[in-house]
Amino acid sequence: MSILQIVQIPASEMDNFAYLVYCPETRQGAAIDPSMRPELLLKKVVKFGLKLELLLNTHGHQDHIAGNTLIIERAGAKLAAHPIDVPNPDISLTEGSTLELGNGIIEVMHTPGHTPGSVVFNIGKQIITGDTLFVSRCGRADLPGSDATALYESLQRLKTLPEETLIYPGHDYGPTKTSTIGWELKNNDFLKCPNLRSFIKLRLGT
Ligand SMILES: [Fe+2]
Repeated sequence: MSILQIVQIPASEMDNFAYLVYCPETRQGAAIDPSMRPELLLKKVVKFGLKLELLLNTHGHQDHIAGNTLIIERAGAKLAAHPIDVPNPDISLTEGSTLELGNGIIEVMHTPGHTPGSVVFNIGKQIITGDTLFVSRCGRADLPGSDATALYESLQRLKTLPEETLIYPGHDYGPTKTSTIGWELKNNDFLKCPNLRSFIKLRLGT
């Protein structure tokens, strides 16, 4: 398990979760998907006595990035995202990118499908999955820029992570606020699809 701590913050009327990740040794922090209520995340930054160094986005949908401007203005954090989804970030993310945060490391998986620039942040055996994987569900694949085949392939990659890997989703859509890869393998119908054809039928109804 990574030294980095993860704080989950309900942050919109659309059941979004924002996240605050921080190093307890250096008090350096990263905001992830501040969503519609970035002030709630900034309150936690003050509460924990942190310096916000980074602002990360899992993808470019408005319900996740709406709070970016306030976080940048108030904290001066550097924006890191995949440039397909979020144009001109300070740090361009792609498959295999790593971000240092205090004495910890955040690893980036490029997981296209829900959007072409969706990424998952891997922090030890904890993943922040945006709208790629939810508790008991997965992201939509019928939106502009979505690609159901790419989403299937991205989910196949997540299925290979250790079963004890903790999942921190982008929305509170499931029976619990977090789960594990092992739980999802048993209970998530989208992960249980035996092949691409059955996944597309379930996801798109075609
Ligand atoms: Fe989304």
